[in-house]
Amino acid sequence: MTTPAFDVRPTTQATEANVRAEILANPGFGRYFTDHMVHVRWTKDDGWHSGELRPYGPLTLDPAASVLHYAQEIFEGIKAYRHADGSVWTFRPEKNAARFRDSARRLALPELDDETFIESLRTLVRQDIDWVPTPASEAEESSLYLRPFMIASEKFLGVKPSKEVDYYVIASPAAAYFKGGVKPVSIWLSSNYNRAAPGGTGFAKCGGNYAASLAAQQEAENHGCDQVAFLDAVENRWVEELGGMNLFFVYRDGRLVTPALTGTILEGVTRDSILQLGRDAGLTPEERPISIDEWREGVNSGEISEVFACGTAAVITPIGELVTEHERIGGGSEEGGRIGRQLRKQLLDLQYGRTEDPHGWLTRLA
Ligand code: COI
Repeated sequence: MTTPAFDVRPTTQATEANVRAEILANPGFGRYFTDHMVHVRWTKDDGWHSGELRPYGPLTLDPAASVLHYAQEIFEGIKAYRHADGSVWTFRPEKNAARFRDSARRLALPELDDETFIESLRTLVRQDIDWVPTPASEAEESSLYLRPFMIASEKFLGVKPSKEVDYYVIASPAAAYFKGGVKPVSIWLSSNYNRAAPGGTGFAKCGGNYAASLAAQQEAENHGCDQVAFLDAVENRWVEELGGMNLFFVYRDGRLVTPALTGTILEGVTRDSILQLGRDAGLTPEERPISIDEWREGVNSGEISEVFACGTAAVITPIGELVTEHERIGGGSEEGGRIGRQLRKQLLDLQYGRTEDPHGWLTRLA
């Protein structure tokens, strides 16, 4: 497959600088979008072609487009960070590119080569570079969140892989994912719903997984919780992940435990980076099954000293209470745990270019 060159067609109606400045001062998460987007078309006969950068705007889709009926769709989440010298970098994009290919295979979508994936991010960020926020301080976590996605656009209601597919990248200036900033979030343990089953799509980043988490997320909110945690679908015993984040458990003796990748868990880039940063910091990472009983007993006995969630959007977010139908477990301090805070700082310092990058994780975009 050859890399499509991107035909650049900038907007004639770019957002005014003062309006953009106002948005960047308080972007929230996923509410505002930049002036452009990238698009690449795929057809069964011609493969990937017609790569373009064009003004951000609504898509025209046939009402029979298969994505609207059978959810043949995948996406990624990755951020662009502005460094102190004004340059803009992203974090381990080859991991997102590889996961995007894995997701594509699972959803019977065409694979996009890594070079085109990374070049599409670079093309959009170069054009919309003024939308990449400059954090006001080390405490502020603002970046440009990039959302590549691929949809099945063939006009056909038969259940089969689409012969027409579109790939897009949009970008959204982002601050902390949770409204309250970095405060411990409370977790509702879903007993009515599972997120993924063996042989299903749990490892893929497809919209369907997130759609299936929403009723459980609503249940969490009805119980006064911020997020939902899912157990495995076979035994309802093994902790898997939250609605859109991986989980970590810090033990008093220095173990850093996260559920093993069994095909039902999203292979988080932040998850993988934390395992490495934990190892670098002298902790003992363990990827293995962890049961809900181990979570409960560990927190109650004090053997588990911290629990945190992680993801591109959420970075590292401490978990306070775990709430189930029968009990409330843990609570923790207002700032969350020490190790989670330390790993979070290490990760952000690296991403914003404030420390060395010993693993070569950063790629310059602009
Ligand atoms: C991310 O962390 O990038 C995610 O995709 C999680 C969520 C915003 C869907």
